[in-house]
Amino acid sequence: MINAKLMQLVINASNDGIVVAEREGKDKPLIYVNPAFERLTGYTLDEILYQDCRFLQSGDRDQPALMAIRDTLESGGACREILRNYRKDGSHFWNELSLSTVYNQADKQTYFVGVQKDVTQQVKAQQRVAQLEAELAQVKAELAALRATSGTNKI
Ligand SMILES: Cc1cc2nc3c(=O)[nH]c(=O)nc-3n(C[C@H](O)[C@H](O)[C@H](O)COP(=O)(O)O)c2cc1C
Repeated sequence: MINAKLMQLVINASNDGIVVAEREGKDKPLIYVNPAFERLTGYTLDEILYQDCRFLQSGDRDQPALMAIRDTLESGGACREILRNYRKDGSHFWNELSLSTVYNQADKQTYFVGVQKDVTQQVKAQQRVAQLEAELAQVKAELAALRATSGTNKI
């Protein structure tokens, strides 16, 4: 059977970041982060405890994903969004955040759990595919134009 100690071991062993935040007005301060979150972001628990996770955006706030996250925090649902985030050393990474709401009947408080995954490689690969598709479309259009011109010249 699972117990609190085993649960702690499991969360500590996770490859993905796992954080818990509480609802405190506009802010959702962190009350727990696991070791994988510390490795992913370069921040230790002591440095970020009771801060809202938005510090990971480092001022890069014009992100459509933030709208969905605000809606989720407002409505108490769940979402999965990809964000541009920045580590303590300033380096950028793409962070897939899976966010869920947890209501604790015992203290009648709402909490949020976030699972963070570094998806930088996948996002870069998708961006490269999109760029290559655009280049291919351009080449195809130029080829079609050339064909049309050579067709006209024959007549
Ligand atoms: C549990 C939890 C985990 C979060 N994790 C991240 C994260 O890893 N990166 C990030 O940019 N925002 C994260 N957020 C979202 C921000 O904390 C914040 O809610 C978001 O920026 C929207 O609110 P704001 O417009 O007030 O900043 C998390 C939020 C919660 C509640």
